[in-house]
Amino acid sequence: MFNHLLLQGKVAVVTGAASGLGFAAARRMAEAGAAVVIADRAEAGEQAAERLRQEGGRALFVQVDVTSVDDTKAMIDRAEEAFGGVDILVNNAGVYPRSLMRDTTVELWEKVMAVNLRGAFLACQAAEPALVRRGGGTIVNLGSSHTTIGLPELFAYSVSKGGLLTMTRNLAGALARYRIRVNCVNPGWVATEGELAERAAQGQTVEWLSDKGKTLPLGRMQTADDTAALIVFLASDLATQITGQFIQIDGGKEVASMFDDRSLHTE
Ligand SMILES: NC(=O)c1ccc[n+]([C@@H]2O[C@H](COP(=O)([O-])OP(=O)(O)OC[C@H]3O[C@@H](n4cnc5c(N)ncnc54)[C@H](O)[C@@H]3O)[C@@H](O)[C@H]2O)c1
Repeated sequence: MFNHLLLQGKVAVVTGAASGLGFAAARRMAEAGAAVVIADRAEAGEQAAERLRQEGGRALFVQVDVTSVDDTKAMIDRAEEAFGGVDILVNNAGVYPRSLMRDTTVELWEKVMAVNLRGAFLACQAAEPALVRRGGGTIVNLGSSHTTIGLPELFAYSVSKGGLLTMTRNLAGALARYRIRVNCVNPGWVATEGELAERAAQGQTVEWLSDKGKTLPLGRMQTADDTAALIVFLASDLATQITGQFIQIDGGKEVASMFDDRSLHTE
């Protein structure tokens, strides 16, 4: 049952997989036996796919802007042509510019919604017929620990991830009849290229972040592989009865947060 090749024979499409969490997920899925489409607007996706091929995996880069109807359809078509079908879609492409509500321009709002929310919608819409043709499949969305409330300075981002959570639960209900499962993973804090660039703009170094990570209940920041492991599990046949769920990967931050209020306990 707990076979190392959990995804043998499956085909996965991962958006935003040229780097960061998407690349880690693509890599671990390839290791688990899946053929993987690296779908990213960045040309670095070709190097990412080449790296997976050199590691013995099956991988193909398709240049995609997830905000485009044509690109997302072409992404699924290419996956079917190259690998014979699609079983897994990971909606990972995302942007997270920091801005308080009062400073959020319409342009910033629309950019965040276009990538994080419209992109996931278009990829799901393009993938549904392909998943149905396979007799079922799975979609994993990348939410965030900011999904249900969020920090003030992540206003548009938090709202977009809240929408993604609703999309997850709506589609889980609507697509269950086709044996399509839809779940959401909510990473806490991972030092990816994108996250480091955002933090650097605020003068925060990777060392500073690592020290902050040590204050989390489980003692460290999360890694990209922490998220990839959950994605592999949810995409696999070990999870065939799990749908419509969202799971925090936050080192215990959310459940321990009430203890930040020292007035509530005496320990
Ligand atoms: N890093 C974290 O701490 C963290 C925490 C919680 C959630 N997340 C979520 O995980 C996902 C990945 O985050 P990351 O830190 O790896 O980001 P990243 O910036 O390192 O990588 C994102 C990738 O998405 C691609 N991309 C962006 N816009 C695109 C578009 N329109 N079309 C196609 N590709 C596009 C980029 O080229 C890049 O390769 C995002 O959805 C993010 O919100 C990240």
